[in-house]
Amino acid sequence: MRRLPLPGIPAQAAIDDPALRAAYAACRRFAKTANPTEYSLMQLMPAAMRPSCWALWTALSVPDNIIDTASGTPAQRVTRMRAWITSLEADVKQGTSSDPFRRAIVDTVWRWNLNLRDLSVSFSAIEADAEGRRPATWTDWSARVQRSNASWAGQCLILFNRAGLPTPMRPQYQRDFARYLDGVYLTDTLADLSADLDRGALLLPAEVIDGFDATPADLLQRRWTPQIQALITHLVSRARHQLNAPAFLTVLHPGAVALFTAVSNLFLARLRAVERAGPRLLHTGPRPGKLARQCILAPARAKAALAWQMTPLNVPRTPSLPPQQIALPLTPAARPAAHTPPRPHASGVRPPAIAPDRMPRHVAIIMDGNGRWAAGRDLPRHEGHRAGRSALLDVIEGAREIGLQHLTVYAFSSENWQRSPEEVAHLLELARDGRQQFVAGGVRLRWAGSPDGLPEDLVDELHRGERETRGETGLTLTICFNYGGRAELAGAAADLARAAVAGDLDPNSISEHLLGRYLPNPDMPDVDLLWRTGGEHRISNFLPWQTSYAELHFTDGYWPDVDRRDLWQAIVTYGRRDRRHGTASATPRPAALAKTSSGRSAGDR
Ligand code: FPP
Repeated sequence: MRRLPLPGIPAQAAIDDPALRAAYAACRRFAKTANPTEYSLMQLMPAAMRPSCWALWTALSVPDNIIDTASGTPAQRVTRMRAWITSLEADVKQGTSSDPFRRAIVDTVWRWNLNLRDLSVSFSAIEADAEGRRPATWTDWSARVQRSNASWAGQCLILFNRAGLPTPMRPQYQRDFARYLDGVYLTDTLADLSADLDRGALLLPAEVIDGFDATPADLLQRRWTPQIQALITHLVSRARHQLNAPAFLTVLHPGAVALFTAVSNLFLARLRAVERAGPRLLHTGPRPGKLARQCILAPARAKAALAWQMTPLNVPRTPSLPPQQIALPLTPAARPAAHTPPRPHASGVRPPAIAPDRMPRHVAIIMDGNGRWAAGRDLPRHEGHRAGRSALLDVIEGAREIGLQHLTVYAFSSENWQRSPEEVAHLLELARDGRQQFVAGGVRLRWAGSPDGLPEDLVDELHRGERETRGETGLTLTICFNYGGRAELAGAAADLARAAVAGDLDPNSISEHLLGRYLPNPDMPDVDLLWRTGGEHRISNFLPWQTSYAELHFTDGYWPDVDRRDLWQAIVTYGRRDRRHGTASATPRPAALAKTSSGRSAGDR
């Protein structure tokens, strides 16, 4: 088919339909006009993937523009944004659109078999901007940056994977990448400061403005006080520090290295322009000159083109299947009811009725006694672990049946490396099968532990399980594997110290809450009930932070002999406890009648 002479649509992208080519060209113009720097960086992607990158960029930029516009109340802007997303969802279901932007986005979603729900994290972060809330701390700021931008990057990674170039980001580089993204967006925030002030928006965290004794009023009224000057100098140096020498570059494809090197150089040049602007920063958006940009981009284009040329990528053609054959669960309501109900116990026993205020939210288990169970049967220790896995499967079903929200199990401690290589190898194998074994019926799988010493493919598998189930809303099952509680706390302390040394954090602001936010799984709730089988009465470095107020439950039987009825029994026993969290009981009364207390104080522990 003869292609319309639309400039900039690479032949490798395999877009034959003239209307579709025009739709992609519209996205390209939109990205180029609204975000020329980001557009020039997208041009460093493999040619075949660029049109889809423009379309995905447009999918996020249109809602962003609706929210950022000066017209209408915040509520009206949110309504407009939601209407646009709803039209997009309908268009994706239908497979086409009369709107050129959405036409290209629909094609990208179909072609690459994407799930638009993956963008919803960013959509909700953008929507929250309508309220104009200022981030209080750097942690809030960073969470907002990651939420609003990570899904675009995530979709691009999916394109690479589906084009045949898997680019897993190793866990040890994820923090590094997040820090780098923070640097990019801090630079952007500085360069756009005057435009944001024009619309009365102040995006910098309150803690840093207060920390320099600057006032929001000074900024909003564009007064270049010594405090504001010191604040800007600090922010420039922070962004420079975050952008410099990212470690994740060392593991990327040379094409991606050329791309990210250009990102760093362009944003560092932007920071120099911010520095040079001085007081003008509050009135203009400083940018590096055209020549400076070209000096960075021209060599990057040559390097990236050469690198991508050596890696042939497959771009899928748009399928002509009816929409329902494409993975399309766009909204929670449209999700197919794929959740299998819990399998009942073989005996037909039903879970006990537990009053909601007697139900623990989070049960954690030390599954002890596998080795002794095996020894008692003259079996090798690993047979005990295999039987232990069956017990765990039944307990998971029982947890789903009773409606437990969080179940965390200790499957391999950082001390367990001292066991025989054979036993360790079997435990690694059981963990490798975890996603296949434990994920059913809405289970959200999480992994807590360190990647150090684990084979890379196992780490990838554990992350894959987390990724694939992150939208699930049933039981959250956290497998602690290669886990050490003290090491986690030491890591959080080290991160806090680093942040304090970098001037990002006032040591006086370190509280229990803040330390909790620095743990690797900050959203893990406190453990209500800690259960250990196997007759030992120890905690063994398991969740020391989260179990501070847990009720303890010890049973003598070995873990492989356990089933869901033991979990239910543990929960019934827990429901009878008087949980005071340090407060005094009003009147002495039978434990079974005592009310659960939700407050915490340093009273009678
Ligand atoms: C402690 O018993 C148990 C373990 C170290 C492993 C627990 C593993 C499972 C229950 C299998 C499920 C696996 C995964 C990866 C989810 P022990 O071996 O110390 O027993 P002992 O005290 O009798 O020697």
